[in-house]
Amino acid sequence: MTTDHAQADETPPDETLREKIAAELHAARDRTTLLTSAVDDGDLARQHSPLMSPLVWDMAHIANQEELWLLREVGGRDPMHPEIDPLYDAFTHPRSERPSLPILPPDEARAYAREVRGRVMDVLEKARFSGTRLTDSGFAFGMIAQHESQHDETMLITHQLRRGAPALTAPPPPAASADAAGLPAEVFVPGGPFTMGTTTEPWALDNERPAHSVDVPGFWLDTTPVTCGQYAEFIADGGYDDPRWWTPAGWEHRQSAGLTAPLFWHPDGGWTRESFGARRPVAGDEPVLHVSWYEADAYARWAGRRLPTEAEWEKAARHDPATGRSRRYPWGDSAPTPEVANLGQRHLSPAPAGAYPAGAAPCGARQLIGDVWEWTSSDFAPYPGFEAWPYREYSEVFFGPEYKVLRGGAFSVSPVACRGTFRNWDYPVRRQIFSGFRTARSAPEPA
Ligand code: AVJ
Ligand code: FE
Repeated sequence: MTTDHAQADETPPDETLREKIAAELHAARDRTTLLTSAVDDGDLARQHSPLMSPLVWDMAHIANQEELWLLREVGGRDPMHPEIDPLYDAFTHPRSERPSLPILPPDEARAYAREVRGRVMDVLEKARFSGTRLTDSGFAFGMIAQHESQHDETMLITHQLRRGAPALTAPPPPAASADAAGLPAEVFVPGGPFTMGTTTEPWALDNERPAHSVDVPGFWLDTTPVTCGQYAEFIADGGYDDPRWWTPAGWEHRQSAGLTAPLFWHPDGGWTRESFGARRPVAGDEPVLHVSWYEADAYARWAGRRLPTEAEWEKAARHDPATGRSRRYPWGDSAPTPEVANLGQRHLSPAPAGAYPAGAAPCGARQLIGDVWEWTSSDFAPYPGFEAWPYREYSEVFFGPEYKVLRGGAFSVSPVACRGTFRNWDYPVRRQIFSGFRTARSAPEPA
């Protein structure tokens, strides 16, 4: 028996859903427009890192996926420019090849995106949200809003890797909460089964499904993500030079890549950190950002702890011991607001550890949603009963031990693509992503 959050009678009427879909598509497009108008056309077409596509590729890929799913599949329309499809298929051409492809120049990419969106609004106006699996509860529209938001995050990573004067600005995140200094270092999550994943969340992607029961033994979890100050102690203690803390593969990578500190950190007689074209002193109370899984795992071992498993992370974030239910978010079932989490690129850095008391989980952990993605110890694997939907290339082709799961989203992630069940994954060497972590330890019940 699983106790998933949503109830059938929560299904909104069609007109409410139509408005919500339009608002989510608009919000994603506003962000795409901001990210792609902040630099000139030369910068849009340039490849700023071999890990990333030119920004103009993301722009037209967003439009191409929207055309494919919402105009062709849902709307039954003919392809607009079938000859460009292979250019924007992420599997035909890896990122490193994309700059040499005859991709649409900025003006044509913008025009294509505008044209697709105009037609999508016509399809949306007439759409029914029941009767076919793709449009039930507006799934395909929600999937496409999430897809564009995910590429907005990808484009933000490209901005972070780009050299040159700052192109983006945002107000700083909220200060530490008044009680931050008095928080316990760790919180206890009692053992027992909980419901992991979801069957009822309408826009959950295939890898979050289905809901299933997982028995998680009691464990302790850091109240907040590991901070820059804590991480600097690991560095100062010689953590990067001691193979005891690293897995064999991690040590091998630390040696060959010459790792000495998180990406974008500089030892300027005191650590400084580059962030979107500006360099400033590392803030001791800020969650550490831009660390690889190998570094996170080594830190945890140095601290006498370990990374949480994915199931532990989700139980801490969703399980409500008062009802036995798993909720959508740590604070409950209501959508994220600026009071509970740092999401949506409203700020361009994580908030200090202990911020967002209103977003705390029942176990007391803070900032599980937003601020920094959190590495878990788990490989990216399907849940029991997984079914690829609506395309294998979203999740299924990535399942296996070469990818590690990240949870919780970061300041870079749109609320539409963030929830307690959402799963992200990447290679353990990656650190250009907005990745941090917290640590855990196994334990019996406290006395
Ligand atoms: C879920 C972030 C790993 O960017 O590779 C975007 C999301 N999938 N377009 C990625 C995605 C297809 C994906 N991640
Ligand atoms: Fe994509």
